[in-house]
Amino acid sequence: MSDLNKMTDWEKLRALVSDSKLESKSRTVDEKLLLEFLQARIKGQDEIIADVARVIRLSWEKQQRTRPICSLLLLGPTGTGKTELAKVLAEYLYGDAKDMLRFDCSELSNPDMAKSRLTGSSSGYKDSESGGQLTRPIMANPRRLILFDEIEKAHPLVFDLLLQLMGDGRLTEQSTGRTADFTQSIVVLTSNALADEVGKATEGMTDYREILNAIKTLLSESGVFRAEIMGRIDKVYLFKPLTGMIVAEIALLKIAALGKDYGMTVEFVAPELLLKALEANLKVSRFGIRELERIIFDFFAEQLVAMRDRKVKTVSFRLDPDGKIVCYPAEKPEQSQAGN
Ligand SMILES: Nc1ncnc2c1ncn2[C@@H]1O[C@H](COP(=O)(O)OP(=O)(O)OP(=O)(O)O)[C@@H](O)[C@H]1O
Ligand SMILES: [Mg+2]
Repeated sequence: MSDLNKMTDWEKLRALVSDSKLESKSRTVDEKLLLEFLQARIKGQDEIIADVARVIRLSWEKQQRTRPICSLLLLGPTGTGKTELAKVLAEYLYGDAKDMLRFDCSELSNPDMAKSRLTGSSSGYKDSESGGQLTRPIMANPRRLILFDEIEKAHPLVFDLLLQLMGDGRLTEQSTGRTADFTQSIVVLTSNALADEVGKATEGMTDYREILNAIKTLLSESGVFRAEIMGRIDKVYLFKPLTGMIVAEIALLKIAALGKDYGMTVEFVAPELLLKALEANLKVSRFGIRELERIIFDFFAEQLVAMRDRKVKTVSFRLDPDGKIVCYPAEKPEQSQAGN
């Protein structure tokens, strides 16, 4: 193995690689392309995604880093796109949302569990050699987005680890002494704590500094976050509640995705049908759009499968006069309507 050392001129190779497209590719992010990618997937939060794209372009280009590329705190009501934004960013920036490390902080409320989950069990304990579920994946591939969902539910010890991670860009596993380097990762924290209060306190404000100050004051006074944590966060975003028209747009996205899952393109969905789906969603989930996906599945999956079995590639949906959902091949509407 050590012969590899002699197989080439490593110093020269390193210099060549760092000047080549291989490396420069990872040092720049095309803000316009990133923004387009985000716009296609995240609806109703335009100001946030425009700023996120800008901040990421700027921080990505720094060549010397001692901290993560950036640390973002996403606040706002449930089901407004906070977790979704993290996923979409991971997909664009690191190639695959599956490589994103996600921690549900409601599972990190017990100090021993939290510590062994994140940085590994103490030495001597069972599994102490296998390391942490945060540190090990980062050692294997440091280019990742790390998401801490519902951060307000984490034990204070998790905040201590986060302070180190976001402040020094490193975390050491106590049991093994191995260190994970976070200087190529992006950290995203999400919370819907105090969403109503924060919304009210910042109502009518337009200046980012002013909004930020109001949020910081509220979060630290209520004991949700320690002030040092806020000091390590590069940007705080407050997600807006989604209006009916935006939810309709998201419903269309989900219908298109469902069609794609069955290998089909959905060309058109009648507005009456969309309204019906939105009303059904409102009935079961007063607080957001969590049920939308299931409702859309209930509404459309059966018909999509039937069309797929008929080898149809493109379909449209409408609502017939007795409230039944009708699906027809978009290529030949007349003929197939009769068949339904
Ligand atoms: N702004 C949005 N644009 C597009 N899709 C959205 C948006 N908001 C929510 N969704 C859809 O709704 C689902 C739930 O949203 P998400 O998980 O991002 O909510 P959240 O803001 O993280 O809520 P919570 O605070 O409860 O975790 C997502 O799978 C996504 O498909
Ligand atoms: Mg979430």
